[in-house]
Amino acid sequence: MAKIRVGVLTVSDTASSNESADKSGPTIRDILEERGFEIVHHAIAADDKDAVTHFVQEWSSGETPVDWIITTGGTGFGVRDVTPEAVSLLIERPASGLVHLLLHTSIQHTPLAALSRPVAGTVKNSLVVTLPGSVKAVKENLEALLSGGVVEHAIELIR
Ligand code: MTE
Repeated sequence: MAKIRVGVLTVSDTASSNESADKSGPTIRDILEERGFEIVHHAIAADDKDAVTHFVQEWSSGETPVDWIITTGGTGFGVRDVTPEAVSLLIERPASGLVHLLLHTSIQHTPLAALSRPVAGTVKNSLVVTLPGSVKAVKENLEALLSGGVVEHAIELIR
């Protein structure tokens, strides 16, 4: 199977004005590169629906769309948290099983995982998954998605 091409979008008002505040984006990069994924995009968007949809649309379109778009941040109950709403506007085929997997595994780490509102699904031929913003949460959620080859198999089917 050809390398899985990934776009990582950090969604954070703070990181969008100070790149060094982005800890979860680089964490995702490191974990995935270690496992042989190819990170082709990494950007930071403010907590703003248009900013988020801009990147998801761009990375899932054109001649070389990515296989997997992972967002981190903006999934909670904060007044500026709009990542799930933004991504939901674009999702063509919702993947409730992936959402269930993320919440089921995350809640075993902390009940606070119930405060994340993840969405997942396909936009054209890209899988899009929204992760919470903390490094800890990113590690736990990626572990769930990568164990057993869940994401790899999904992408084989989408390609
Ligand atoms: N999921 C896992 N696996 N581990 C965590 O520590 N933290 C939660 C939750 N999901 C957490 C988690 C917390 S404290 C919050 S507020 C929500 O994710 C939302 O985070 P976000 O607004 O940064 O996206």
